[in-house]
Amino acid sequence: TTPIIIDTDPGQDDAFAILLALAAPELEVLGLTTVSGNVPLAQTADNARRILECAGHGHVPVWRGCPAPILRPARPVPEIHGDTGIDGWDWPEAARGPEPGHAVDFIIETLLGRADGEVTLIALAPQTNVAMALRRAPEIVPKLGRIVFMGGGYFAGGNMSPAAEYNIMVDPEAARIVLGSGVPITAVPLDCTHATPAPVGWSAPLEALGTTTGRACGGMMRFFEIYGNAKHGTKSRPLHDAVAVAALLWPELFTGKLCPVDVECAGELTTGMTVVDWLRQTGRPDNCLWLAGCTDPGEVYARMLKLIATLP
Ligand code: BDR
Ligand code: CA
Repeated sequence: TTPIIIDTDPGQDDAFAILLALAAPELEVLGLTTVSGNVPLAQTADNARRILECAGHGHVPVWRGCPAPILRPARPVPEIHGDTGIDGWDWPEAARGPEPGHAVDFIIETLLGRADGEVTLIALAPQTNVAMALRRAPEIVPKLGRIVFMGGGYFAGGNMSPAAEYNIMVDPEAARIVLGSGVPITAVPLDCTHATPAPVGWSAPLEALGTTTGRACGGMMRFFEIYGNAKHGTKSRPLHDAVAVAALLWPELFTGKLCPVDVECAGELTTGMTVVDWLRQTGRPDNCLWLAGCTDPGEVYARMLKLIATLP
């Protein structure tokens, strides 16, 4: 099994990603670290606790991290995820709170206690915590086998501006630090997630699982679909963060290319854009496996459903 840390800002699609990781026998979730993102920091931590406990994994610790991006103000998006961040299901209150201490310390201490290349970090939010850990303790670089992040977009454009995707736009400096860290990176950008839309009406098979987790997922999916309908007129939406876990679990279903990737931090129109040197114009070293497509979205969601079915 691969030990993983998930850095997250739940978020309905974060919730799906966490549930998949908990259910996957190939992964061992060491802890969740939360960050200011879709909702403020305290709420991301509480949401993470509720999700874990709902899925019968209340023993997994949650650590609170940074309350704002490195240089910029926080940008919560209740218009996308609802006031709680995980609207769509009436989550019972968590029995336990987050751990005392800071997420950045947890990341550093956990990695330093492990063998080189052992741990994979999955980043599903603005990358503030991850960047702070890398800056504070660069000796964690060799400990990380890989960082898989959901963020960015190149061929598909952005979802917060014409050029920028939410996770990168909220903390572009953090993403730049992560991409420049020397850790092998897999990016799961909008190019990939938009090529991997959930089946239309996917809430129905989730609810039909009959489990608490299935019903919670169905409710979140329904909420997510309503936003997609209202904003884009689409009947189906990609579960961005869940696709990142899918790409880690089933790389054979995704396509992409290793190439140089950097982040625009000072653009007049393009701040937060991930600039992908797809045709290798810069001569800079390849730092990122940029996933740009999915060969079988139906299969991805079929496998996700199977995994969610194993949770209580
Ligand atoms: C990303 O932004 C957040 O709102 C989602 O949780 C996901 O991580 C998609 O752009
Ligand atoms: Ca997220």
